[in-house]
Amino acid sequence: VSEPLVSFVGAGPGDPELITLKGLRLLREADVVIHDRLIPHTLLAEAHPGAEIIDVGKSPRQHCLPQVEINRLMVEVARRGRRVVRLKGGDPAVFARLAEEIEAVAAAGLPFEVVPGVTAATAAAALAGISLTERGRASTVVFATGTDHSGRVTTALDWPALARTEGTLVFYMAVHGLETVVSMLVTRGRHPGEPAVVIEHVGAACERVVAAPLGEIADRAREAVVTSPAVLITGPTVAFAQPPWNGRTRRASRGARPSIVGS
Ligand SMILES: C[S@@+](CC[C@H](N)C(=O)[O-])C[C@H]1O[C@@H](n2cnc3c(N)ncnc32)[C@H](O)[C@@H]1O
Repeated sequence: VSEPLVSFVGAGPGDPELITLKGLRLLREADVVIHDRLIPHTLLAEAHPGAEIIDVGKSPRQHCLPQVEINRLMVEVARRGRRVVRLKGGDPAVFARLAEEIEAVAAAGLPFEVVPGVTAATAAAALAGISLTERGRASTVVFATGTDHSGRVTTALDWPALARTEGTLVFYMAVHGLETVVSMLVTRGRHPGEPAVVIEHVGAACERVVAAPLGEIADRAREAVVTSPAVLITGPTVAFAQPPWNGRTRRASRGARPSIVGS
């Protein structure tokens, strides 16, 4: 079995310490690191001093390097026998176009591996003391994207089913379409009084949590000028959040404590 030449590595969100040990080892061994915008940038200091670092970062509604170019770049570099780490924010398999990139690498006959990462949804919940599931209260978790590739709120989702879903809904890429996402849910029957949070810059020192009932969360987020990246979490267990920032679990070394807007 040949050694993987391309490693798709999840960097985790915001906090450089959220990468796995395996991901970190591969990052340190890589000849070339091809990374997205939403990675904790201090992680790049872990790369070998001689490694080539290529930023193919995308911002919302704007692609720095088209996807086909990213695919072509990975293949070209790996074909020269150089070990590539394709570093992606969060988990490489969650809203990260992993399938397309794997297809390109596999079509070129190059060995690859995927190293999971902590995705924004689970990191956001953990850092806010929210359990995404809870016996008798939430046995389903849905990860959905609020907007499509063009930045518009997606009509492809089964909104009535989402509104009915018992349990927790987490929306990625929800900042720009937050109002529409909420109204799609509420007009289809989701209770506007359900507890919700929008968590911005999960894992980073500037992390912020905006908390409000679902029906008010878009207004509160707008007042707080929440920007991307952020996730919306709504569901019955959000009410039972045990904010670790009020306890002793949050490490002082992480710098500023997250601000909480609302209650
Ligand atoms: C293209 S998706 C990438 C998701 C990533 N692969 C993951 O598993 O977290 C980008 C979206 O992920 C969410 N996201 C990523 N990093 C985040 C962070 N540090 N804080 C809050 N949301 C984040 C936001 O909803 C953002 O719009």
